[in-house]
Amino acid sequence: MRLSSAAVAAGYRLSTYDTLPSTNAQALVVARNGSPLVLGIGDNEMFFASDPAALVRHTTSVVHLDDGEIAAVHADGYETRTLEGTATIKTPSTIPWKDEAFDKGEFTHYMRKEIAEQPEAVRRTLSGRLDARFQTTHLGGLSLAARDLLDVRRVKILGCGAAYIASAVGAHLIETLARIPAHAEAASEFRNRNAVVERDTLYIAVSQSGETFDTLAAVQEIKRKGGRIMGIINVVGSTIARECGRGIYLHAGPEVAVVSTKTFTCSAVALALLAIHLGRLRDLSVANGARLIRALQVLPDHIAAILEREPEIARLAEAFVGTEHAFYVGRAAGYAIAAEGALKLKEVSYLHAEAYPASELKHGPLALISPQTPTVIVLPSDDLFAKNISTVEEIKARGGPVIAITHPGEVPTAFDRSFEIPALEPELDPLLLNIPLQLLAYHVALQRGTNIDQPRNLAKSVTVE
Ligand code: AGP
Repeated sequence: MRLSSAAVAAGYRLSTYDTLPSTNAQALVVARNGSPLVLGIGDNEMFFASDPAALVRHTTSVVHLDDGEIAAVHADGYETRTLEGTATIKTPSTIPWKDEAFDKGEFTHYMRKEIAEQPEAVRRTLSGRLDARFQTTHLGGLSLAARDLLDVRRVKILGCGAAYIASAVGAHLIETLARIPAHAEAASEFRNRNAVVERDTLYIAVSQSGETFDTLAAVQEIKRKGGRIMGIINVVGSTIARECGRGIYLHAGPEVAVVSTKTFTCSAVALALLAIHLGRLRDLSVANGARLIRALQVLPDHIAAILEREPEIARLAEAFVGTEHAFYVGRAAGYAIAAEGALKLKEVSYLHAEAYPASELKHGPLALISPQTPTVIVLPSDDLFAKNISTVEEIKARGGPVIAITHPGEVPTAFDRSFEIPALEPELDPLLLNIPLQLLAYHVALQRGTNIDQPRNLAKSVTVE
């Protein structure tokens, strides 16, 4: 019997009452070949699916098959073997999600629900990990002693899409707080270029699903070359989490919308925890450690306060009526936030949104600025503020509308529209500047009537090459 890929993605059930369609067999043989495959253990029934989320309604007890593993699934149990026929022993794990978490509740879209869940999701990412006594963070899943972490000379963070952009935010944080050279790279590119893997580099894989094929392939390549890898993952027990064997789980809860919102924020928060940890092993002072811990403690409340001002952000969306192109710009970590804002806008609204470092605008893209091309600028009141203002003036001089996501304070030039958020701490402000951009993308998409939760051509987990 053959199952369509749709049946596998949605989850397939085999109970003692079933006779399998088109056969009289009492068992199904399933095999994992690249894409994920998980068995669900029910009460006299078994399930299998490509994503554990498809099983939560029926069971939370699951077994993840390894690549090249085969399972004979009966209604009341299963046996697993390698391709060569050797029996394997699997330990079931528990999906830490409740069925209700998949309910849209009062919200029209999962994207909007998941944006709203961020204060709680961030609290869970932080839970038990802030150490106010030593002004540092506890990251038990790292399984790396302080001595090992002191040997780290470089950090390389890999992910795809929003996970790659969260990696870029994390690289800024690690370089700023721990003064370790840190870079983010798209995992999909890393695996294409026979990368040099160094013994004193800490490699980090970031993935919501833990199943993204390109990220998994990058992890396997790093391991094959003897590199030290850890994961920043949302789905417990996922393939990349198991392959890395150490890391930080986000505990953000299930993310159903194809676009990442809460898991982007929680990934950046997890990387902030790591940056503080690495920093406090080096030169990050007690006072700065304490300052950042205090800021993280109040981060969820600040996110909640921004979310309450949604009607103001919905009005910003009017700037996109009648346009097909937009720029998103910022400097340093602000550029990463601009990139995430542009990714969200293009995914859900189908508008062409291009992110550019604000400093690079005059080296080419300025030619495209016109009254029909709005520019969103990520404009914190940091030491790059004056440079960012000069970018705003260059855009305005060409008739381009400017929408600023900024902090309160005097500005020497007028924006067409702006949204001010309170400043938290300069290193962590990017985490807050991202929140209005999520809502902006959502409201532009609402106005344009697109399929917000399932944008065309996109899948939640890209488990194929
Ligand atoms: C983000 O909005 C996208 N859905 C996509 O770019 C996603 O971040 C990417 O495919 C990586 O997914 P992962 O986090 O599950 O690895």
